[in-house]
Amino acid sequence: MHKIAIVGAGRVGETAAQIIAEQDLCRELVLIDIREDVPQGVALDIYETAPLFCFDTRVTGSNDGAAVAGAELVIVTAGFPRKPGMSRSDVLDANLAIIDPICDDLLAHAPDAMVLVVSNPVDVLTYRVWRRTGWPRSRVFGQAGVLDASRMAAFIALETGFSARDVTTMVLGGHGDSMVPVPRYCTINGIPVSHFISPERLAGIIQRTRDGGAEILSLRGNSSAYDAPGAAIAAMVEAIARNRSRVLPCVAILDGEYGEREIAMGVPAVLNQQGLARIIELPLEAEEQQAFAGSAKAVRADIGRLPAA
Ligand code: 2OP
Repeated sequence: MHKIAIVGAGRVGETAAQIIAEQDLCRELVLIDIREDVPQGVALDIYETAPLFCFDTRVTGSNDGAAVAGAELVIVTAGFPRKPGMSRSDVLDANLAIIDPICDDLLAHAPDAMVLVVSNPVDVLTYRVWRRTGWPRSRVFGQAGVLDASRMAAFIALETGFSARDVTTMVLGGHGDSMVPVPRYCTINGIPVSHFISPERLAGIIQRTRDGGAEILSLRGNSSAYDAPGAAIAAMVEAIARNRSRVLPCVAILDGEYGEREIAMGVPAVLNQQGLARIIELPLEAEEQQAFAGSAKAVRADIGRLPAA
């Protein structure tokens, strides 16, 4: 890719930027943030690692939303993180006030870009960006499932002692308390996880995955997670920049898939240079479909709070 913009130079944006630069996924990477001097400082700090990590990505910072101009991909991490005890929905109003002007910058300065939404509540804000820009769903998608699936895989690796690289997991639904980890689609190198983990222990892992963000928030105390979220963003960017057609769980606008429409939620999708090229519809058992529908209901309740786009 030639240019990627990250709107929001907080910890998640910074971590993603460092990995994207290290992997040389674009020639130009701009971090945009309204806080004076901050994106410039973050960008310079990252660029000063170029001689050490041997990358050529030029990393810059800007306080001007118009700096998204020319970006093929814009990643939105700007927003208020939740504080301990808050749900992701609790930051909706505050983050809506941030996301709408970003959409306007996109429409004005980067009308052909793809947008990867990360700010919370990510399902609702992805839907908002899709509505407000009016862009095709292939160009508007969100990050949540890659993070949730990575957390679940980490817990399975810890439980079994097997290499984390052999663990494949699938998490569907909204990125919230109602997310739907699907153990039936989780394997250790193709072997169902149920071969190694008892139903009781698996239930514990599923709950820990749902609470994954809150667990980090409560342990860190003064910060939400950012290492795993940043790496999850970078994995999606890598799939797009290298045109890999990877199958990854993404927040996608649904148009009848899984029985839902007019909503954004986590589903497996194909990511390549076209963006979100295709949604994959997995056969779900009655209980899984019910959990998915329950998750859709929770996301829809927040979408119902949105003012007109
Ligand atoms: C997380 O799950 C903050 O939503 C983010 O860590």
